[in-house]
Amino acid sequence: MAELELREAMRTLRAVRRLRPDPVPDAVLHRALEAATFAPTGGNAQPWRAIVVRERALVARLGALYAERWAAYSAGHRKLWAKAPADAVARFEKVMAAGDFLAAHFAETPAVVVFCFDPTHMAITDAGLDRVSVVGGASVYPAVQNFLLACRAEGLGCVLTTLLCEVEPAVRALLEIPEPWATACAVPVGWPRGRGHGPLSRRPLARMAFAERFGNPLG
Ligand SMILES: Cc1cc2nc3c(=O)[nH]c(=O)nc-3n(C[C@H](O)[C@H](O)[C@H](O)COP(=O)(O)O)c2cc1C
Repeated sequence: MAELELREAMRTLRAVRRLRPDPVPDAVLHRALEAATFAPTGGNAQPWRAIVVRERALVARLGALYAERWAAYSAGHRKLWAKAPADAVARFEKVMAAGDFLAAHFAETPAVVVFCFDPTHMAITDAGLDRVSVVGGASVYPAVQNFLLACRAEGLGCVLTTLLCEVEPAVRALLEIPEPWATACAVPVGWPRGRGHGPLSRRPLARMAFAERFGNPLG
């Protein structure tokens, strides 16, 4: 594993959508995937698997599906943002341009890692509540985050994407994912074209964490 202080990796792990087509060595990918296996899961059931997709024809099919979903998503979002203040639109368009690039070049990505999960082997403690259930995801996404951080440490660019979940049946057929396994995300991975990682834009701690009661300043 490349040496990079953990906090520095977390602080600079941003979505990198402009990737070079150059291949990623097996050993590098394996180290990053091994980091994913260290993640916690409910009851240590480890109900996730990762499919490393590098076969060009498969990546091209995923790319075509992704581009189609991105076109719909980005058109809707651009409409929503049309009336926002000019400086906010400029920031938004920067991210959208990176998204456009990823969609246009998805098929050239050297590797796409599709994370799957088995909903029948998850401790989903909020399943009975009258709201959207999120607890199941906590047995998958920590592994994804470990993978992203390990990619960052290796100097690889990557981005967690979920648009392909909208067309899960097509992805399932393509990658021969058996029932009851389902898809949690797809992570395009490759060497960054430009600077890649860098400082993040995030809300300050005071807005994100409270003391004792919701909304009570942490102090
Ligand atoms: C649940 C989730 C779904 C996401 N889906 C997509 C996606 O489908 N396509 C994409 O380009 N980025 C996707 N992202 C990346 C986010 O847009 C990105 O992490 C966020 O804007 C912060 O970007 P930054 O780390 O570069 O500041 C997703 C991230 C998360 C956590």
